[in-house]
Amino acid sequence: MNMREAGSTVDLSAFWMPFTNNRQFKETPRMLVSAKGMYYRSDDDREILDGTAGLWCVNAGHCRQEIVDAVKAQVEQMEFAPTFQMGHPKAFEAATRIAAHTPGDLKKIFFANSGSEAVDSALKIALAYHRARGEGQRTRLIGRERGYHGVGFGGISVGGLGPNRKAYSGQLLPSVDHLPQTYNFKEQAFSKGQPAWGAHLADELERLVTLHDPSTIAAVIVEPLAGSAGVLVPPQGYLQRLRELCDKYGILLIFDEVITGWGRLGAPFAAQFFGVTPDLITMAKGTNNATVPMGAVAVKNSVHDTIVEGAAAGIEFFHGYTYSGHPLAAAAAVAAMDVYEKDNLFDRAAKMAPYFEKVIHGLRDLPHVLDIRNLGLVGGIELKSRDGKPGARAYEVFVKCFQKGVLIRSTADILAFSPPLIVNEAQIDHLFGTVAEAIRETA
Ligand SMILES: Cc1ncc(COP(=O)(O)O)c(C=O)c1O
Repeated sequence: MNMREAGSTVDLSAFWMPFTNNRQFKETPRMLVSAKGMYYRSDDDREILDGTAGLWCVNAGHCRQEIVDAVKAQVEQMEFAPTFQMGHPKAFEAATRIAAHTPGDLKKIFFANSGSEAVDSALKIALAYHRARGEGQRTRLIGRERGYHGVGFGGISVGGLGPNRKAYSGQLLPSVDHLPQTYNFKEQAFSKGQPAWGAHLADELERLVTLHDPSTIAAVIVEPLAGSAGVLVPPQGYLQRLRELCDKYGILLIFDEVITGWGRLGAPFAAQFFGVTPDLITMAKGTNNATVPMGAVAVKNSVHDTIVEGAAAGIEFFHGYTYSGHPLAAAAAVAAMDVYEKDNLFDRAAKMAPYFEKVIHGLRDLPHVLDIRNLGLVGGIELKSRDGKPGARAYEVFVKCFQKGVLIRSTADILAFSPPLIVNEAQIDHLFGTVAEAIRETA
């Protein structure tokens, strides 16, 4: 049986696919069946260059032998052990290895299983912290328009994407407000790296502080660079300003680094890249090279200590998941750290970023290209929408690229690129050469 036959025998009806046009997909499926390094293979036996690191997550490239071996060894030795009132060494080892890369004194690691869970955990930690220090009235959470923080009720409440919120709008968390988003076409189009315009938008936090009173605000959560909303690069000075204002008003600053974590910008976290240290960092995806579901929150020691040492005898924080620190996920995380460190992958991303920038900006004169933005190994190309059909043009480019053997991502009419950090110059040329062809063909 060849791979195409193998694919076509699969019954597609039962799996209700996430964030997918199910009807369209099931009419014309796109199936991946194996992966190695920079490439997937499709069920019709084609090599597919991975321009998105899976879903912004396979930062070290696919099926790294060291990680595969570590997971195999762990599953044979012990497939599961609880971490509620019990422990197993790999979870502690994984936390220690993760904490070696987190900035400042964010050295306490709380495990979850996804970015969404990491976000909800971080929001709870922020509320628990203020309560533990006697400011339990600080319950308000501030997110940002166009923010994506996963799909839990906490995450969509602080998130700022209308379609993700609409159906649940009556049941979102009550005390939430939003900063304005930072993208401005007129001021920022075709910026290379961080746009010069827009730092003042952080001052909107002053407005929210005046409106609600600082004594009611627990935390601000932002993606340092917004990925899922279409690659929105923070203006120069913006994150620094947010940090200053949070400090001024005793508000915790949470960076959601589910995408920017683990080398995407050429430093372990965006926090180090921008030189701004938040109080909490959420991560998932690249934490173990997406090998086994894992999310985590890195927490400032003082925030952790306030909750843990301030508690009465007994369990200090009533929160956790059956699979927090799952042995397979932990083993994969330790092995992923080995690979990241041994291959110096974060530095590699930094070194490759100027070439990536040069090549992606080479597409600016193609038809329908409205804007190109980039930072580190993340890029976005915004296309002009077809009349009355938002998202159709970028989706068409995405499908054409897949047919031509390149995996990219589209959200609305924005194409997003985030290749594994092992990408080389020839693969960057191939990626954007194919994208250029596909854009021309949709003219
Ligand atoms: C910034 C950010 N936060 C949270 C999430 C949610 O992660 P997950 O899909 O693992 O729940 C994502 C996913 O892309 C993300 O980009």
